[in-house]
Amino acid sequence: MSVTIGQGSLIETAEELYENAPCGYLSTLPDGTIIRANQTLLTWLGFARQELVGKNFQDLLSIGGRIYYDTHFTPLLHMQGFVNEIAFDLAGAGGRPLPVLVNISQKRDETGRPLVHRITLFNATDRRQYERELLIARRKAEEASEELKRLNETLEQRVAFEVAERMKAEEALRQAQKMEAIGQLTGGIAHDFNNLLTIIVGNIELLQRRLPEDAGRLRRAAESAMQGARRAATLTQRLLAFSRRQPLDPRPVDANKLVAEMSELLRRTLGETVVLEAVLAGGLWRTQADPNQLENAILNLAVNARDAMPDGGKLTIETANARLDEAYVAALAEPIPPGQYVLVAVSDTGTGMDKATMERVFEPFFTTKAAGKGTGLGLSQVYGFVRQSNGHVRIYSEVGEGTTIKIYLTRLIAADQADDEVPAATAATVRGEGETILVVEDEHELRHYTTETLRELGYAVLEAPDGQAALDIVNRHPEIDLLFTDVVLAGGLNGRDLADEALRRRPGLKVLFTTGYTSNAIVHHGRLDPGVNFIGKPFTFADLAAKVRGVIDAGAAGPASAP
Ligand SMILES: Nc1ncnc2c1ncn2[C@@H]1O[C@H](COP(=O)(O)OP(=O)(O)OP(=O)(O)O)[C@@H](O)[C@H]1O
Ligand SMILES: [Mg+2]
Repeated sequence: MSVTIGQGSLIETAEELYENAPCGYLSTLPDGTIIRANQTLLTWLGFARQELVGKNFQDLLSIGGRIYYDTHFTPLLHMQGFVNEIAFDLAGAGGRPLPVLVNISQKRDETGRPLVHRITLFNATDRRQYERELLIARRKAEEASEELKRLNETLEQRVAFEVAERMKAEEALRQAQKMEAIGQLTGGIAHDFNNLLTIIVGNIELLQRRLPEDAGRLRRAAESAMQGARRAATLTQRLLAFSRRQPLDPRPVDANKLVAEMSELLRRTLGETVVLEAVLAGGLWRTQADPNQLENAILNLAVNARDAMPDGGKLTIETANARLDEAYVAALAEPIPPGQYVLVAVSDTGTGMDKATMERVFEPFFTTKAAGKGTGLGLSQVYGFVRQSNGHVRIYSEVGEGTTIKIYLTRLIAADQADDEVPAATAATVRGEGETILVVEDEHELRHYTTETLRELGYAVLEAPDGQAALDIVNRHPEIDLLFTDVVLAGGLNGRDLADEALRRRPGLKVLFTTGYTSNAIVHHGRLDPGVNFIGKPFTFADLAAKVRGVIDAGAAGPASAP
């Protein structure tokens, strides 16, 4: 008896079950010839029954599938009589792929000879899709955790660097604000003082004119009062200069001519123990500045240099055309426009200054000299004059080595004079091609800036804070193409010693030196040989790119080492 509900019977015939099972059924001969297939499989593949029956099972496989079938599938089947859950892509009607999981079992006769293969096929379309998504998700998760690991490793370092950068910027701002405040204060006082001095000087002159010829003592007293008043007037002048309130008389200036004309005055000021050398650039641009104040500034620098070399030494005055780029001026506290400048640099081989001193030298009345020896207004004048002229001053100094002070004044371009300068090669910056550079620099911030810049340019960069660490790296890394070192290094070995030793170990290694001193000062002070590769600080992105590329590409190595 059969139970019926509505039209259909609840009892399915074996035939119905076979044809419409939720999986595909195939029967083949041992050689793969298909002798039977159920409706489910025909529907999935899109074939009519007579299209499939008589075909080979292998014909439904891709080439890869067929190879796998021959090399793995058949031997396995032969050995154990069945194979489970093998993934294949079958080709349906019109080449439409059908991902399936295949189970096969062999029906054998009583002697064990295979008669028929019974094959079930499970539709794996959804499963394949799911597996693909799972794979992508896992790859993404792995990438994310890798990235996280990397971030964590550098986090501490990056935080430290960011904090240091922020503190540096705040410090620069504080310094600028302090100078501004002191400037306003001293400017106000100096201005009033000037008025008072005018009255004092005027009245002393009146007294001098009116005093009887024979009043010797009184005349001397008046003369001495006048001298004091004149000194006070000079000081007031320098205070006004610092506060940028002095009246300037800017005129087109040829700095070479100005320095040349000062040489006699400078020689007398410096005395016999200090050698003066002027290195004046050919084709120097003109600048617009008050020539008297520029002379004053150079003189103040020369006097400071002399005082820093009590046992004699060398003073180098250099001029050059210079370019301050966006990146350089962006790092400054004062608003300096990027562009072309005329550089006047004064270098000495004196005592140098420590960091604390360097931070305060521009402040008026800051002096380390004995009472009565210095007023602490020399560099204040330099600073005030240069800033009032829209220029820029920069100090480099190393204790025991010497000091370079660089004054940058804006280039004067006359209205009828076309800009003959080819614009700096910022757009087409020359790049690295994965060459390895070892950067040696004891100033942490600067080392960071340099290594980052070089990496950005496409170089692989190693870094060391001193000569000894650098030599260790040279030993371990034969792939280094260029040694880029500061001339003055803390900790025993200076840049030149380092280069000599590195070249002894790696003949032919290329070397590029850098320092805040001007190259002439450094060469002539005997710290470097003439003709070595050199780039002066501050260097711009474009300068560094061009110089490094040039040195690496040049056939010649750095300074020859004496074997
Ligand atoms: N070339 C230098 N080498 C070493 N230290 C220097 C140099 N130039 C300036 N200094 C330091 O900076 C301080 C300030 O210099 P600044 O010229 O403003 O004043 P001063 O030389 O002390 O006095 P003044 O110039 O008014 O006679 C100096 O006292 C000195 O410590
Ligand atoms: Mg001075």
